[in-house]
Amino acid sequence: MNLPALHAALLGWFSVQRRDLPWRVTDEQGRRDPYRVWVSEVLLQQTQVVRGRVYFERFLTAFPTVQALASAPQEAVLKAWEGCGYYARARNLHRAAQQIVQSGLPSTYEGWRALPGVGPYTAAAVASLAFGEAQAVLDGNVRRVLSRLYAVEEPTPRWAQETADALLDSDHPGEWNEALMDLGATICTPANPRCAECPLSAQCAAFASGDPAQYPAPKKR
Ligand code: ADE
Repeated sequence: MNLPALHAALLGWFSVQRRDLPWRVTDEQGRRDPYRVWVSEVLLQQTQVVRGRVYFERFLTAFPTVQALASAPQEAVLKAWEGCGYYARARNLHRAAQQIVQSGLPSTYEGWRALPGVGPYTAAAVASLAFGEAQAVLDGNVRRVLSRLYAVEEPTPRWAQETADALLDSDHPGEWNEALMDLGATICTPANPRCAECPLSAQCAAFASGDPAQYPAPKKR
């Protein structure tokens, strides 16, 4: 894999095709609010972007800051979470917000991992998107893109994480991660991937095979 070419191709595509989403807004310094990134990533683990957007706006209107979330009664938090599934996630958000108000907002992957409900995915997303730390995210979209790039039918969790780590553009980790997620959501879709529009097709082994949708193979049951 030619990494500089891969990075240039995907980030070039992303600079044009980047979806405008409410958790992607930046301040004058180009920084993103870690609280917004965190809430959006927890929400998007169980909701598609289109619906997630509506829930995100509702939750952020109710609790615009981590302080507002921390000091809210639990019933109000659960009420604002209605429709988003798994109430344990809302309870963890609430508890973690209280820890943040007490002990400060973490700025590293390890710091986020120590909060209730924050697993490897969420910690990598917040650390890379809000703080520019070189951490690769791995979700279902990213796993599919990677298994196609290498034409791997049955990617193991270990292979997927090692490959995500190896391909990460550590100069632009947040953009790289989000570009991979957007590519998986809009171009490198499970069925009928739109390879003619894909910036990575020249380096994609699944595209070269002529039948990209066969990767990864459907899970055996
Ligand atoms: N899905 C989960 N997190 C996302 C993000 N930051 N951008 C786009 N899609 C996502």
